[in-house]
Amino acid sequence: MSKVHQIGLIGAGNISEAYLKLAPLFPGTKIVAVADLSAEAAKARAGQFGVRALTVDELLKDSEIDTVINLTIPAAHYEVSNAILSAGKHAYSEKPFALSVEDGKKLVALADAKGLKLGSAPDTFLGGAGQTARKMLDDGKIGKVIAGTMHVLSRGMEMWHPNPGFFFQPGGGPILDLGPYYIAALVNLLGPIRTVTAVATKGFEDRLVTAEGPLKGKTVPVGTPTTINAILHFVSGAQVTLTASWDVWKHGHVNPIELYGSEGTMLVPDPNFFGGTLRYSEKNGDYIEVDTSGAPFGKSNWQDGKHANYRMLGVADLLDAADHGREPRCSGRVALHALDAMVSILDAAAQEKVITLSTTTDRPAPLTQADADRLTAAR
Ligand SMILES: NC(=O)c1ccc[n+]([C@@H]2O[C@H](COP(=O)([O-])OP(=O)(O)OC[C@H]3O[C@@H](n4cnc5c(N)ncnc54)[C@H](O)[C@@H]3O)[C@@H](O)[C@H]2O)c1
Repeated sequence: MSKVHQIGLIGAGNISEAYLKLAPLFPGTKIVAVADLSAEAAKARAGQFGVRALTVDELLKDSEIDTVINLTIPAAHYEVSNAILSAGKHAYSEKPFALSVEDGKKLVALADAKGLKLGSAPDTFLGGAGQTARKMLDDGKIGKVIAGTMHVLSRGMEMWHPNPGFFFQPGGGPILDLGPYYIAALVNLLGPIRTVTAVATKGFEDRLVTAEGPLKGKTVPVGTPTTINAILHFVSGAQVTLTASWDVWKHGHVNPIELYGSEGTMLVPDPNFFGGTLRYSEKNGDYIEVDTSGAPFGKSNWQDGKHANYRMLGVADLLDAADHGREPRCSGRVALHALDAMVSILDAAAQEKVITLSTTTDRPAPLTQADADRLTAAR
């Protein structure tokens, strides 16, 4: 019988609640402590779930804890993941994995040198929708993928987030904030990316904060592109356009991802979530709906059954990988390649050129029913 891994969280903010709520679905994972720069935040979250509140230093020195999840803000991801690995513990980070490819490479090298597992969100592509789409593509349902589109469009963050300034500075923007879901989903479906090119602009020089809070009615400056059109050319030959914008009030692109194959078309649900209804066509026939809720981790279980949310699945898979000496599916290598694509998109736009990525990755292994049964089995 596999062991139960004792896990610490660093970062007791918004998303930490989901990790703590969902961990019991995976009996091989046990979150035992929470730390944060703010002792108050750590205490509040730890108290809510009956786990220990520690300082970051105490958590990293705790010999009972073999794995740490990094739920800090993007600007701290590299520094905190580096500290976790340096303390001899497996590390799993929220997205984005790091803010520069150099930092991402250093993390992968450190984990390899220490024989530790390193992983990163998103793990949504391990959900029912992502894995059903993967199986259908691998089974040749739409033939060879020639092209595709991805649309990530909205009017931004300043109407719901009380402190939205960081979203509009380098390290934020729609590519680094939401791109990880889309790019990881496509690497799962199509494999690694060879080149990218893009154009980018700022729709507005500043943004008026309308969310409730101390900044309401004030403006925050925009220091990073908020509308980006990119072309991703995959090693497989597929070419996919990505339109990402926080300058769009309304749009008609109801399908976040469309893939056009030699034998048909596939409409893939929003990779921000684990489930959803997938549609595909055989050549130009009517769309056939595929309910992915019966696939592992596809059933709606969140927000009154509106969405499927199995955050912690990537962590459970990473620890199963540690137990069985294999590569995790949401590995540092996949995250590094996705980061390379995102940073290169922004660089390509700034430099008006085509960039060949300096990293590559294997496609993560498909997640089978037997894998799902193992990850959810009682210990
Ligand atoms: N909130 C969401 O719905 C959501 C969803 C998916 C992914 N994420 C990702 O999760 C991460 C965290 O997001 P959030 O919404 O929870 O942010 P948040 O701002 O609510 O919380 C971040 C916490 O990290 C702490 N922190 C920052 N730097 C630290 C450091 N060096 N050491 C220890 N603690 C530190 C802060 O004090 C804060 O409590 C981000 O990378 C975000 O992109 C968030």
